[in-house]
Amino acid sequence: MAATDHLVIFDTTLRDGEQSPGATMNKAEKLRIAKALEKLKVDVIEAGFAIASQGDFEAVKSIAENIKDSTVCSLARVLDADVDRAAEAIRPAERGRIHTFIATSPIHMKHKLQMAPDEVIEQAVRAVKRARSHVDDVEFSCEDAGRSELDFLCRIIEAAIDAGARTINIPDTVGYAIPEQFGDTIAQLLNRIPNADKAIFSVHCHNDLGLAVANSLAAVTNGARQVECTINGLGERAGNASLEEIVMAVRTRQDLFNVDTRIDTQHIVPASRLVSTITGFPVQPNKAIVGANAFAHESGIHQDGVLKHRETYEIMRAQDVGWHTNSLVLGKHSGRNAFRTRLLELGIQFDTETELNEAFTRFKALADLKHEIFDEDLQAIASDTLHDEEPGRYGLVCMRVNSETGVMPNARITLMIDGKEHTVEAEGSGPVDATFKAIESLVDSGCNLQLYSVNAITSGTDAQGEVTVRLERGGRIVNGVGSDTDVIIASAKAYVEALNLINCSSLRRHPQVADV
Ligand code: KIV
Ligand code: ZN
Repeated sequence: MAATDHLVIFDTTLRDGEQSPGATMNKAEKLRIAKALEKLKVDVIEAGFAIASQGDFEAVKSIAENIKDSTVCSLARVLDADVDRAAEAIRPAERGRIHTFIATSPIHMKHKLQMAPDEVIEQAVRAVKRARSHVDDVEFSCEDAGRSELDFLCRIIEAAIDAGARTINIPDTVGYAIPEQFGDTIAQLLNRIPNADKAIFSVHCHNDLGLAVANSLAAVTNGARQVECTINGLGERAGNASLEEIVMAVRTRQDLFNVDTRIDTQHIVPASRLVSTITGFPVQPNKAIVGANAFAHESGIHQDGVLKHRETYEIMRAQDVGWHTNSLVLGKHSGRNAFRTRLLELGIQFDTETELNEAFTRFKALADLKHEIFDEDLQAIASDTLHDEEPGRYGLVCMRVNSETGVMPNARITLMIDGKEHTVEAEGSGPVDATFKAIESLVDSGCNLQLYSVNAITSGTDAQGEVTVRLERGGRIVNGVGSDTDVIIASAKAYVEALNLINCSSLRRHPQVADV
């Protein structure tokens, strides 16, 4: 192995991550995440599946127009219409990639595609050639490679490389692989495919057995030079390999991996926070690298060791991944210019002065309540403002909640519904229950509450609470996120946002269903 090969970091938070139930993001949110990924210096940003809907197409195009330092990629099935739509969406990009895929496992070919293996090869070759007629940078994936036959993988990959694919991706789509075996598959493919040296081999591992990162690293040891991953491991079902874990593993154990990435690791924690705030998927406290406890030393023995010599119990420095960059940025007396400048530094740009003014008003109100405003608070203000720019059917006008020992909590709430104010009162087992019951007594949504979670955005008792509410109706799942220094108000905001999302979320094509 060469001294230090470059390991391409391909981030698919905006595509596979968004396939997580409820993680749907709008165009402005996707652009904010894309800018955070560019700052992180990921090599390739998979911005979406352009043919899924008009909204997805617009989001990929807007990312292609705005991102300069990362390649912007769109996913496409092997259909002509998919490939052409992907090409159109990434056209403005300085560097654009089309990523086309078809399933290669016996079970997918027989039951999902209902195609003979030779037909699958023919479709793959056609799609790669068509993609190459648009761009030089074409990636081909063998969906469900983890359960595909090695001989068939060798045949289809050789044909795809001959047709012009420059990256070959081996996905473990259902998270079935085991590290030693998956690493061996990569080694065999590299050894047996005659034109393997003409492409970069990539892996894309799902986490159904909790092995996505381990499988990806085994693949790197055996010659893979691109890893597909997501921030916080977001993704379908149990998620994808987590970017932060892959990057820090190869960096911390360079003695074993001999690969380098371009990632500016100090931006990892801010990117993780941003993805969590936007999607409403909280990060578990004991999550490696980005969990709140990842660098906290609870036991006295560990604390003693760390104080004497940090490396007794720490293999990475918290600052290197962006912890403790939580500096006080703005306060009560900060002006509009300082506010705008800091937002720009965070990659937040409003389309209109009205939006900026509204965000500034929110900032002033918050600064009156909590005095110290951190980057995380600014991100939450930006999210609230951008959501308000897409008015839904429902809006929270005002609320009052009574909570007293020995008395049933009561909520009085005024909602705007289709432009008209309605006020109602309800009791509940707690203040949040009373609030949600009051809202439901007005809207009668028929939704099931699947998740309610509260996180503090920053530390201290004056911190804003960030609430996620996940609602389900007819199989459709959405996450609403609300923030406020009062967690009951944050809960109402999150519930109202989820109701608006479930009413307006339109049907999109899913890339991995069979309509090839
Ligand atoms: O998991 C998978 O197989 C995918 C492909 C579309 C690359 O996400
Ligand atoms: Zn996937």
